This record gives sequence, C-alpha cells and structure tokens, in this order.
Amino acid sequence: MNTIRYTDKYGSFELDNPESSSYLYFPLVNEAGMMSCVTPNLAGDAKGSQNTFLLAPASSENLHNDKSTRNFWCGIKGKKAWSAAGVSAWQQAMLYDEAKEETKLSAGLLWHKMTRENHELGIRSDILSFVPAADDAVEIMQVTITNTGSEAFTFTPTAAIPMYCRSADNIRDHRHVTSLLHKIETSDCGVLVTPTLTFDERGHQLNQITYAVCAKAEEGELPVGFIPVTEEFIGEGGSFEWPEAIVKDDVELAAAGTKEEGYEAVGAIRFADTVLEPGASKSFQIALTIGEPEDKYLVKSNIERLYTETCGFWQEKVTGIFTSRDHDFDEWMNWINIQPVLRRICGCSFLPHHDYGKGGRGWRDLWQDCLALILMEPKKVRGMLLNHFGGVRIDGSNATIIGTKEGEFIADRNNIVRVWMDHGVWPFITTRFYIEQTGDYGILLENRTYFKDIQAGRGESKDYEWTDVQGNMLRTKDGSIYEGTVLEHMLVQNLTAFYDVGEHNHMKLRGADWNDALDMAKEKGESVAFTAAYAGNLEGLADYLDILKKDKDIVTISMAEELKILLETETEIFGSPDKKQEILLEYCNVCKHVLSGRKELYDCGRLASRLREMASWIQNHIRGTEWVKNKEGYEWFNGYYDNHGRKVEGDFESGVRMMLTGQVFSIMSNTALTEQVKKITEAADQYLYDASIGGYRLNTNFHEIKTDMGRMFGFAYGHKENGAVFSHMAVMFAYSLYTRGFAKEGYKAIHALYSQSRDFAKSRIYPGIPEYFNQKGRGMYHYLTGAGSWMLLTVQTEMFGIKGRMGDLVLEPKLVAEQFDENGTAGVDTVFADRKLCVRYINKAGKEFGEYRIVSAQLGDTVYQGEYGLVRIPREHIAALDADERHNISVTLE
Ligand code: G1P
Repeated sequence: MNTIRYTDKYGSFELDNPESSSYLYFPLVNEAGMMSCVTPNLAGDAKGSQNTFLLAPASSENLHNDKSTRNFWCGIKGKKAWSAAGVSAWQQAMLYDEAKEETKLSAGLLWHKMTRENHELGIRSDILSFVPAADDAVEIMQVTITNTGSEAFTFTPTAAIPMYCRSADNIRDHRHVTSLLHKIETSDCGVLVTPTLTFDERGHQLNQITYAVCAKAEEGELPVGFIPVTEEFIGEGGSFEWPEAIVKDDVELAAAGTKEEGYEAVGAIRFADTVLEPGASKSFQIALTIGEPEDKYLVKSNIERLYTETCGFWQEKVTGIFTSRDHDFDEWMNWINIQPVLRRICGCSFLPHHDYGKGGRGWRDLWQDCLALILMEPKKVRGMLLNHFGGVRIDGSNATIIGTKEGEFIADRNNIVRVWMDHGVWPFITTRFYIEQTGDYGILLENRTYFKDIQAGRGESKDYEWTDVQGNMLRTKDGSIYEGTVLEHMLVQNLTAFYDVGEHNHMKLRGADWNDALDMAKEKGESVAFTAAYAGNLEGLADYLDILKKDKDIVTISMAEELKILLETETEIFGSPDKKQEILLEYCNVCKHVLSGRKELYDCGRLASRLREMASWIQNHIRGTEWVKNKEGYEWFNGYYDNHGRKVEGDFESGVRMMLTGQVFSIMSNTALTEQVKKITEAADQYLYDASIGGYRLNTNFHEIKTDMGRMFGFAYGHKENGAVFSHMAVMFAYSLYTRGFAKEGYKAIHALYSQSRDFAKSRIYPGIPEYFNQKGRGMYHYLTGAGSWMLLTVQTEMFGIKGRMGDLVLEPKLVAEQFDENGTAGVDTVFADRKLCVRYINKAGKEFGEYRIVSAQLGDTVYQGEYGLVRIPREHIAALDADERHNISVTLE
C-alpha cells in the first residue's frame, strides 16, 4: 500500500497512485479569496464565495462522479485522445488494470503537482496547480507534456475547463435558466463569461463579475481557437470524458472575439498541432480567474516566480517547526500549522465535505481559530478579538450570523432563534491565552459595543420595541450607543450562564453545546460538561481581577449598574435553580431594550472573591452529584441530562454510556481532582479508546435513537458526533490532561490521532488532521476543523511547553522519553514576542517525563535557572534581541 513520503522540511510529500484512493482533495487558496480544491484527477471546484463559483460546486461524491473537471487533452495523431489529467473514458477504465498509467502526486504548502505517464504512448504530463499568493482570485494550472518515448509524435493540445460561473444555489435550482444569463466571449487567449444577472438569495441583481479561463503556451504562444459552448464541445451524445470536439477533431473553432449567449460554457482552448521529439517538452499555462484575466499569469517564467513566492508565503505561515525523534511527526505539524489559516479563509463551507452553510464560520469557531493565530500572528489578533466582542449580547448570548467582514454581525430576521450554551465559554479561553502570550492585560479594559437585535432573554423572549432604525448596537436610554470593557463582556457571558440552570442546577443545554448535534433537549437538557467549563472561566476571571488589583494598581473597574443584579445575590440562593432563574429573568428584563447608561465602580478584590464563590460552588456541586461509579468499577463524570431530566451516562440496559466531553471540561477547569483525573483516564481507556481508528471516541454506543438528546443519535454509530474519534474533542482531552501534568496520557491521545492520520491505508487523507475518523478509520472533513488550532496549541504550549505567562516566556516541556532524538534533543523553532527562537531541550540521559528536571536555560550568555518545574525568561529580555536573527535557547534537563 502507498504511503506518504516527505521530501523536505516544509512538509512537502509524494504519494504514488493517489487516484487509487477516493475522496482525496487538496486545498489551494489565497488571501484574495480564491478557494480551490483539486483531486488527483483535477476534479474539485474553484470559487470566491457562495455566489461566485467559477467551477461547479463539488461535494465529496462529486469528486469521483462528475465528469466536468479540469482537463487537458492531447490528441495524438493516429492514437486515441489522451487526457493529461487521466479523465478520458478509456483511461478511467484502466484503473484496475495492470497496465494502469503510472501516477504520482507531489505536493507541498500550498501546491499540487500530478505526474502521469503512459509508457505505451510514450507521453507524460506534469500538471502543477496552485493559487498564487497574490491579490487576484486566480488558480494556475501549468501543464507540461513530455515525450518519454523513442519516436517523435504530433499532438493537438486542448485545455478544457468547464465553467459554471454562478451561485452554488443554482447547482439544481434554476441550473438551466441561469445558463441563459451567460454572455460568453473569446479573447485572443481564452474564454470569458459575464452573466447578465445573478439569481441567488439576494434576489435578481445585475452581475458585475467576469469569469475567465485563459491559456498560453511557453512564453506567450497564443491558442489557435476555441470551442466555448459546452454542447458543441462535448457533441451530441458525448461527455466531458469523451468529447466529440476532441475525439473527432473536426469541429469548427471559434476565433478570438466570438460572442455567444445563453449556453453552458467551457474554457476549451485549442493550440496549434505540436511536434514533440523524444525527450522534448512543451508547457501550457492556464489561468482560471474570477475577475478580469491578467496576462502575467500566462507566462512561463512568471509562473515559476509566482510558484516560488507562493511556497515562501505559506512556509512563512508555519511558525512552529518541530524537531523530535519522529521526523514524520515534525513534518506533519507543518500541515497542522496552516489548517487554522485555511479555516480562516474557507470557513466551514468551502471544501468538498463541508457542503453546508454558505461560507463563514460559527461563533465558537471564530474564537477557537484565533488560538492558533495568537501563536502565529499575535499582532493581528488583538484587533480581531476586539471586533469579535462586538457580537456579544447583553444577555450573554451572541449574534450567530457572522458577516464576511471582521466584526460584522447580522441580525437573524427569520426569528428562529437558537442559543448554543457553550458560546459564552470560548471568548475567555481565547482572551486568556492572548493575554498570557503577550502580557497585554490592557485588552481587558478596552471598550467595545454590544450586539443588539430583536432577540432577548437568551432566546426566551423578543424585544418588540427594537427596530431596524436603532441598528445592531445596544443603546442606552438617551439613545447613545453603549460601550463596556472587554472584561465586562466576559463577565456578562459567564455570569448569565451561572444563573441559567435547569432542575439539577447545571446549565441548561438549550439549542446545544459544543456538540451541535445535541439539539433535541431544549427544555430539560443540561450540560454538566460546559457548566464545569464556565466554572473554570469564573475562576480565571477572578485571577485577572486579582492581577489588576495587586500588580497593576487597578482597584476598581467601571461597569453597567445592571450587573449588580447578577453580582449582589445571596450565596444561599446558589443551591436553588428557581431563584437563579428568577435573578436571570430580572436581569434580562432590565436589559431587554436599552441600558440605563449609568455605570458603577466595582471593587476588583470583592468581585474576584464573588466569582470564586460561584466557581467553587459549581465545582463542589458537580463533584458531589455527577461522579459516576459503574458496576465494572470504573469512575468518571456524567456530562449531560436529557430532555426527560435524566442522567445520560452510567450503566444502562443497552450497555455502558460514557461521553468524552464531560471528562474534558471537568479536567480542563480543575473540577476533576487529581485522583479523579486518573480514574477518568482509566474509564476512557476502557470504554472510549480504540487504537484502530485514532484513539478516544466521543461516546460509547447508546444503541438508541435518543430523541430526547439530539440528532447525533440518529447518525450511525462511529460517525461524526455519534462516537467517532472526533479530533477536536480528542485533542482538547489531550490538552486538558497535559495541563494537569498527565503528560503520558496526553501524549497517548495525540499520538493515536497522529498515527491514524499517518496511516494512509486506513485514513486516506493527506497530511493534517481531519474533523473526525469514521468507524472504518477514514479521515473525514479534512482541513477545516477547530482541531487544527487546538493541536498546534497543545503540541507547542503543552507537549513542547513553550508558552507565555503574562507575556514572559515560560519553558515547561512535557515530552515523553521516546520523543527525544538519538542525541536526547527535541525542540521547536518558533516566534515569541516577535523574536525568532530556536528552543532545544537536551535530555542527555534520555530520562522519562516525571524523572527529568528542568535545570536551566541558556540564551546568549545568560543562564536562567529552573524553578518549580519550569524556566521563566522575562519578556523584556526576549524583546531586546535582534528581530532579524534566530536566537538559540538551550534547555538542560537532568
Ligand atoms: C465542528 C464545528 C464545531 C462544532 C463541532 C461539533 O467541529 O465546526 O463548531 O463544535 O463540529 O459539533 P470542528 O471539527 O470544525 O471543530
């Protein structure tokens, strides 16, 4: 079986016969918004947004079923027409033959090159695809045809790229009618389509966008003609896999300047017959553009330059280059590094498995993707975080329709309100990480607006006084726009959650929590898992209030007077779900339409102890009521209540029911005591761990379509949210374990995911981490997953232990012995405080985690002594280093 072979230190790899694996796709994107994906046969689509698909939208099943793919035909005189992409009826039929064409994929950050050779015909194609790191929405396909035989041959080259040029909405709805909008024109080098109108959810509008497929050979040789109308290209009875215009070769070519209207279009571009001597090659540059085509993308020497620049651009994005014993792991991490960037660009909708939504990301994804960006581009992130806080509502919920521009939140007009109860958790987690990495505690005191629409009371009521005229920002009684600090926003989110409890005094599940598919327990469902997470936040917020007071001399903070309702309650009521709901209702009613505009000064110290009381109340409550001990003697936390108000986990007639999420957040939030963490790992190993599919599953098999919990129980077991190895949660499990000092256990979870991904025979994915591994161990929903961010965060800050603490650099490795190389070394090349660092841990004696001690770190001539299991280097010392050089930090472990 094939394996991925890495070929350099930037994650570049090779794979033989890639088209013998289905569902493979590779992303090609740029910051200008071009989003393409290609398969080994060059299927896949290219688009700028939901409404501007240049190539027809491709879901995973289209990847092998569609014939309308990027193609390049070589009509070899006297022989069968040969597709350089392998997409001709006869080449497809050879797949299982011994005489199958020889194919190889070479790929890297972010380029894709397919090589295909037919030994009998003596012909080879090398097709390089990439989206230049440029300001244009363009994909380049460079086709090089080589004569590998011993005799010269003559061939007719024709590029053939079917052009869809409209909204994804029209893939079925009005598919034909929208082709009537097409105005097709040929230039001297290609086919341009400018639809008259667009038909999509925005209504019928005049279209401004031109789509183009253009091509030139070598340094500028023009085509000899075009066949721009699909039905003429494929011919009567033909198809893109066996088109008449290629097979018969007697079609009349359109000259430059030809106009056609009202047909499906194809960028079919013919070049003059070419004679290739043995060993000779000829290259063709094809540019697929959304927008007017530009000549610079069609010249061979330019393409070479653009390709080099693009590789450099993506390599720069990799800010954590790892060195360990397992070089494949180090290479694999290059791909993890860029996954968060891919999701920033593609959202959750624009790769083949992600055939839902219309672009953009959800609220929790927005925040979690920032975790990796904080490591990669901390300067950019500050503004992003501030913008995101503008999406918080004063009732602690948030806008759920996120605009394309950063900080743009849109009111949901169709009144179907859904509140995800985990949403309030993520902003603090991300902001805390940002503050620790940068020391920028000042962000807590920055003012931001709040989001306002008709929804009120955490989805329970409506503010009918609200009108469009008031806009989407919360106002005060006198009509001015209200602003509160970032700290206030986070307090609002976490305090409202504290009171929003169900009958067991855990937070209500509402529309769902992190697990989107727990969506059928709105009335009585409770998420113990996220109640624990909020407790962790309340405690974390208290820590910052203490820091503000003790270290920064900020004694009081100014916040809306309405918050008193949530802060000045009797501790005795914490045990009463009804009282809590009453308080929440009072607060939500007071804030329903506008705020008074009056602010109060709150004492930081008092506030901190109030939050701590709340946090420890929750933790004690969870420890006291949710610890499950089953018949087989395993112990863990129950994470949920169903819509009948019943505990979800434990022993059931159908078998043991255990879910991972509750374990993750009880560990992460310190709700689980150390001995409980140990017990949880034993239970998880017993009931959730399956090494053959990537490690820890999300849950055991409930053997029930639990309609009082959520649609996940309708999914087949072992798939997606129903018991798959769901990478995001599995990585967060590892992260939580590391933070509690359970390094071997954390490593086990990470290693299982990595090993599964690397095992191409089973996972059938290119390097990187997919959203989940299914019941058969196949990697699904590759690239666009929050697991990318969390993996990078976990590996860099916990496993390799390179992280910030209030802006200082802390080195606290939790590497296990097998991760150190033959010389006892492991480390990371990374950036901290804008300085390039090369951190190397030296474990000469090859000691195991728990046995080695961090003795000291040397940076230049300065030696920093280890204390409390870590080394801390003041930020000023790092900031004083030369910004252009890379600086070595050598850390001695003994
Ligand atoms: C996806 C969603 C995420 C959700 C998760 C579980 O996970 O994007 O918001 O919490 O499913 O339902 P991802 O793999 O993208 O992190």
